[in-house]
Amino acid sequence: MNDTPGALPGPDFTKGVSLSRIPDGSIIQGHAHGEAVVVARRGEELFAVGAFCSHYGAPLADGLLVDDTIRCPWHHACFSLQTGEALRAPALDAISCWYVEQRDGVVYVGERLPLAGPMPSPVVRVMPQSVVIVGGGAAGNAAAEMLRHEGYSGRLTMLSADASIPCDRPNLSKGYLAGTAPASSNHLRSLAFYRQRHIDLKLNARVARIDTATREVILADDSRYAYDALLLATGAEPVRLDVPGSDLPHVHYLRTLADGEALVSKGMVSQQAVVIGASFIGLEVAASLRARNIAVHVVAPGAVPMERILGADVGKFIRRVHERNGVTFHLGTTAASIDERGVTLKTGERLAADLVVVGIGVRPSISLARDAGLAIDRGVSVDEHLETSLPGIFAAGDIARWLDPLTGERIRVEHWVVAERQGQTAARNILGRRERFDAVPFFWTEQYDFSLAYVGHAERFDEARLDGQLDAVTRDCTITYRSGGKTLAMAFVHRDLDGLRAEVEFEIATRGDPHDEKIQGGRSRGVEFGGGARPRTDHQGAHQGC
Ligand SMILES: Cc1cc2nc3c(=O)[nH]c(=O)nc-3n(C[C@H](O)[C@H](O)[C@H](O)COP(=O)(O)OP(=O)(O)OC[C@H]3O[C@@H](n4cnc5c(N)ncnc54)[C@H](O)[C@@H]3O)c2cc1C
Ligand code: FES
Repeated sequence: MNDTPGALPGPDFTKGVSLSRIPDGSIIQGHAHGEAVVVARRGEELFAVGAFCSHYGAPLADGLLVDDTIRCPWHHACFSLQTGEALRAPALDAISCWYVEQRDGVVYVGERLPLAGPMPSPVVRVMPQSVVIVGGGAAGNAAAEMLRHEGYSGRLTMLSADASIPCDRPNLSKGYLAGTAPASSNHLRSLAFYRQRHIDLKLNARVARIDTATREVILADDSRYAYDALLLATGAEPVRLDVPGSDLPHVHYLRTLADGEALVSKGMVSQQAVVIGASFIGLEVAASLRARNIAVHVVAPGAVPMERILGADVGKFIRRVHERNGVTFHLGTTAASIDERGVTLKTGERLAADLVVVGIGVRPSISLARDAGLAIDRGVSVDEHLETSLPGIFAAGDIARWLDPLTGERIRVEHWVVAERQGQTAARNILGRRERFDAVPFFWTEQYDFSLAYVGHAERFDEARLDGQLDAVTRDCTITYRSGGKTLAMAFVHRDLDGLRAEVEFEIATRGDPHDEKIQGGRSRGVEFGGGARPRTDHQGAHQGC
């Protein structure tokens, strides 16, 4: 151990660590050559990789080993322990990998290994001459990166209606708005990144229509882009509030980077805000505005914030967290009108405000797909490979409705990680992989010092059982959402490892993967798959951690 202040924690792996200090299935943090490294052990196999996730820097020592992968405790990215490759979003970059060996019961970490470069897929069956991606958000960006990563060398165009390069939307309502994350953290990549990979990124490029006969997408100025394969990743747009005064300049929405920048500028000169809507975005915005010391009132029609999604216990707790931080709630009512000095509620109550933020939900942007004649079902209908009703046209992200293998229902979700993973799967399928999209939905929220991770998808539930404690003293619990006796989703507060284990168990339940015996470190507390889906225990299929 090195106890010098400022020194890297844990043992110096270059000097050797006894194998007995690394039990099977464990991950221990130390350092090598001045860098933080974790060593993981699976049976007789040892792996040494960088200690921090390439997404937001979570400590991977707190993660989970699954087969020969390591999963991140915060937002469930997955890395290969063999190559360091980021196998699954939200991490997009590899972590470093180190040479590791065992001699006479002592483990040594040697030199850093070269980063795994892009590898052409061994089963690429299709190499379209031109791929067009409509949308420069989570799904579109992840797809473009994956196409190049998989060795696609044809023409690749990404058309985005946004004015900015692809941005980290979750950051807009959290660190960036709170003033704790710099503006530079908003960009997923630099412009140079796209140039170097010959990704032709066009900004302010709103596609007006798709000509499926000539296989072209057409912009408002009549410029045309021919495609052999097309990915629609047009995301969603905020629902607009329709009351007198809702178009006043101090009324803000939050979807794009430009929205985020405008809100931060306004937040710097505002003293009193009214947030309309107690959705994730509304409540994250409320928390971030409080971090800027702005007085905040939240107005929403429901009796308990977030009750429909997270259940009454969590909703009431979140309300108390906000109230302790100075937020005033006005529930069971909505805004009747807005003027320059404030908001009048339907109850007649008047709230002073020099800033109003509206977060009352989003609508998927499906008009392009509908006008092109694609099958629509409250979203763009896709098959298990994320292909739409027209061969060669794929859809991913907030617009896609797919068959959820766990529930057997067609679902559409509005989560960052799902959008990115769908973009990645769609990219591989554009190259002929025929990969089934069966990732378990995941999202997270952060409000003040409270964070929650949610695995699965419960459109409706008849039971939200809280195990553990969630109050002013202790935040340590699991919430299980069940319908008809079947577990559909689980939420975790300060139980990162349980969240990872639950994700794996949902995967086993939906796919019948064999890695139920490969999860290192036991099962999560309280995962019970009643009713239909059950973990399979046979040993078919490929061993794959992600
Ligand atoms: C402020 C904020 C915070 C969030 N926080 C979280 C969070 O903490 N956790 C979580 O899981 N999710 C979060 N989300 C949701 C998450 O960001 C979305 O689910 C995700 O961005 C969806 O990705 P997408 O690619 O489908 O759409 P988007 O990322 O919205 O991208 C859509 C793209 O399509 C473009 N486009 C639309 N129409 C056209 C057209 N006709 N022509 C050309 N381009 C077009 C848009 O300009 C945009 O570039 C948050 C969202 C917001 C706005
Ligand atoms: S910090 Fe690892 S996935 Fe976000």
